[in-house]
Amino acid sequence: MSRTFDVVDLIRTKRDGGRLSQDQIQWLVGAYTDERVAEEQMSAMAMAILLRGMDREEIAQWTAAMIASGERMDFSGLTAADGSRRLTADKHSTGGVGDKITLPLAPLVASFGVPVPQLSGRGLGHTGGTLDKMEAIVGWRAHLSNDEMFAQLDSVGAVICAAGSGLAPADKKLYALRDVTGTVESIPLIASSIMSKKIAEGADALVLDVKTGTGAFMKSYDDAAELARTMVALGTDAGVNTTALITEMNTPLGLTAGNGVEVEESVEVLAGGGPADVVDLTAALAEEMLAGVGITGVDVREHLRNGKAMDSWRAMVAAQGGNPDAPLPQPKHTHTITAAVSGTVTRMDAYAVGVAAWRLGAGRGRKEDPVQAAAGIRMHAKPGDTITAGAPLLSLYTDDEARISRAEEALAGAIDVDASGGPVELPDLIHARITAADL
Ligand code: URA
Repeated sequence: MSRTFDVVDLIRTKRDGGRLSQDQIQWLVGAYTDERVAEEQMSAMAMAILLRGMDREEIAQWTAAMIASGERMDFSGLTAADGSRRLTADKHSTGGVGDKITLPLAPLVASFGVPVPQLSGRGLGHTGGTLDKMEAIVGWRAHLSNDEMFAQLDSVGAVICAAGSGLAPADKKLYALRDVTGTVESIPLIASSIMSKKIAEGADALVLDVKTGTGAFMKSYDDAAELARTMVALGTDAGVNTTALITEMNTPLGLTAGNGVEVEESVEVLAGGGPADVVDLTAALAEEMLAGVGITGVDVREHLRNGKAMDSWRAMVAAQGGNPDAPLPQPKHTHTITAAVSGTVTRMDAYAVGVAAWRLGAGRGRKEDPVQAAAGIRMHAKPGDTITAGAPLLSLYTDDEARISRAEEALAGAIDVDASGGPVELPDLIHARITAADL
């Protein structure tokens, strides 16, 4: 029988800056999952961890304990025609505004014969959620059984679906607790939360898109880099071929933020068009995922131009009950914000755009709230573009007209225009790449 510990002793140890042993971590996470440790005790522990941190070994053990609280998925039975094992690749984004990359990325990578088991979440707060976006497609189903997921990976190659309740249940409880106890912003807790789910999901290769900027969880570059290094270390130690890109999130990605509007833009990318930043990031992440399973020297953009990624998308949507040809929902109300002066757009704040889209109905205030499929924002100009006074700058979409004024309030001061029309220096989209060799 495994040892038991006094939870108050463990809280005191961490509170006073000590380290927890593997046995203590295993016991604590297990006892919390099956309710032998009370919520108030775990909230004290989470706060002690936020204030005192954890070392690399503690984080790895904490992550392992969260994985052990539930099931591990196994895709080793996916085989090619010659009987060889098909390696799987996955991506995780730490969340941003206008971040629709999963939608074109999963079918793009699958179009190279690599299965992509993309377990995704819903939006909370100002960042959107992939499942909420996909549900704008008529008939599309987010919940698949493990058998359905395996069969779709085998036949179509790409799956975007909700994580089942069996994956890292300790994280589900702890994340909900952190959300209401001011303990979300702890790099060890964020890294172990994300990586417990990703490792339990069982992909062979993983690329992490760690965002930095006003619209991201990690506002500063240094915090994003530390989170990226911590997660790459966790993935590597667990035998997953893991890399991270640190990417720009001071400005929204692409020209849309919301649900149906982001699906529309993703389909443009899959048809060989779409905004350059969305295409560039999709291509960079696809190259990382393919390299992670040993495929290099391919032109990923060719599959956006020649329709192969689009074929994967259509098959993926149809396999989950969606109609890829059905029109996307249209909003009941549209409100256009126009440029007050002529000049060059120098700044468009991602956080403000995310909050405005959320207030229009694209996001939810509480987990159980519904979202509006047609709510969101279309950006008619981005930093670097020139505009003329009176021309449309943003279109706001919602089914509930009363939401428009609150969205406009969120956007106050969010956009700068330089009336002199001078050139703007735009930040790089990808700031850094972190691999196991950088640890
Ligand atoms: N996403 C997660 O899954 N967990 C966190 O702690 C933060 C973001």
